[in-house]
Amino acid sequence: MLQNSSTTLQLTATERDAMRQAGRFNAELMDFVRQHVREGISTGQIDRLVYEYTMAAGHRPASLNYMGYPKSCCISVNDVVCHGIPGDYVLREGDLVNVDVATIVDGWHADQSETFLIGEVSQEARAVTQCAFDCLYLAIRALYPGCSVYDVGYAIYTEAARRGFSVVYDLVGHGLGRQFHQDPSVFHHPKPECRRVKLLPGMCFTIEPMINAGSRFTVLDKSDGWTIRTRDGKLSAQFEHSILMTENGPEILTQTALGPRPGHRF
Ligand code: MF3
Ligand code: CO
Repeated sequence: MLQNSSTTLQLTATERDAMRQAGRFNAELMDFVRQHVREGISTGQIDRLVYEYTMAAGHRPASLNYMGYPKSCCISVNDVVCHGIPGDYVLREGDLVNVDVATIVDGWHADQSETFLIGEVSQEARAVTQCAFDCLYLAIRALYPGCSVYDVGYAIYTEAARRGFSVVYDLVGHGLGRQFHQDPSVFHHPKPECRRVKLLPGMCFTIEPMINAGSRFTVLDKSDGWTIRTRDGKLSAQFEHSILMTENGPEILTQTALGPRPGHRF
């Protein structure tokens, strides 16, 4: 796609409304999913629920057949950082599980994820989940019209480091709109080049920090080509929202009615 100037990423008023609608639907989907994420359900069953809810509403799961991805959401348990493929695994007490849902609504994309704790979990699971959640909202709070992508990474990295956790470098947030993944890349660590990448009114993008209990390094599971795990086998947590920058500051497009809000304690 021809898109070499940042102005082409700035949506019109009508286009912004279309993105708001996509975000609203995706958030409602997350509210629905949340009710089902508990001990005893398989990740494949959750995926089926996502598929059916989305299709019944006349929309499409963005991940299904995206670059060959086979399912309607990503479900990443414990040491899986992201892009876990739903299947036969049954959730059990102590699990840390991220569900990442993305939808295409009238040609426009929305993308968000949330981490859930199943029953009683370890102190470390709770702390890393809290850190990922707080880092996402600290990054959103750092946003203003014309700020840079560097500001996002700085906010996330500083807080994660303060709590003794690491930030995954290998996967980034992204612009979204008519495409699932487009410019700009939203790095979750302060990368000098990101000072030049401005977040201007009308731009839509995700922030989706992956925070590791151990080291930041990851490995790709070559047997399925998708699943990304921590290299050291320790836990990883993630939260994601789709954001619209406006002249008055950021709007969270995927804020749910029933989900966790800033200040939430896990
Ligand atoms: N939020 C995830 C991302 O942007 C969703 C990935 S869907 C997949 O990477 F199909 F690419 F796996
Ligand atoms: Co994303």
